[in-house]
Amino acid sequence: KRVAILISGGGSNMVALAQSMTGAHPARPCLVLANSADAGGLQRAADMGVPTAVVDHRPHRGDRAAFEEELHGVVAAHRPDIVCLAGFMRVLTEGFVGRWRGRMINIHPSLLPKYRGLGTHARALHAGEAEHGCTVHEVTPALDDGPILGQGRVPVRADDTPDSLAARVLEMEHRLYPAVLRRFAAGDRTPIHLP
Ligand code: GRF
Repeated sequence: KRVAILISGGGSNMVALAQSMTGAHPARPCLVLANSADAGGLQRAADMGVPTAVVDHRPHRGDRAAFEEELHGVVAAHRPDIVCLAGFMRVLTEGFVGRWRGRMINIHPSLLPKYRGLGTHARALHAGEAEHGCTVHEVTPALDDGPILGQGRVPVRADDTPDSLAARVLEMEHRLYPAVLRRFAAGDRTPIHLP
């Protein structure tokens, strides 16, 4: 199976995914694409020998369809069987999602359906949650929705700040996403729960 990974920033989830696709794993990374040329993950992907591409959303300012047309063209050219969104910070509309339905997954830093959207760690702390975590789900047109493929739970500590909690969740993301991808690439959609 060929896996394309879409990023916007440092790409730590991309690295975890790419490093997991070795040996008997049924998948290999075929593309790492960023929506900005200064995404730090592009160099990390290149260092691992994974083909990279940039489709910058800014020239399309406001014309989401044009951005998604260009994005689809570049992704499709690499013939992925699976698309992984990993810290990809652009909202994707039905136009793009519909073409990859059932083959595109995303990781979100909360225990969905709680805390869709941004700022999840601060919101969980503000709400006094005893635990928090991350979710891998199939991408559907509704934001941070879609069938859940896995969840990773972490404890919230009394002295946590949004940053300390985010760091703990990110570590769990790096465990959960590769575990879900391995199963998803084998055609198994049975949800995974960690720890
Ligand atoms: C992190 O906030 C992570 O929780 C979310 O995307 C952001 C960047 O992740 N999934 P990465 O280091 O670029 O993978």
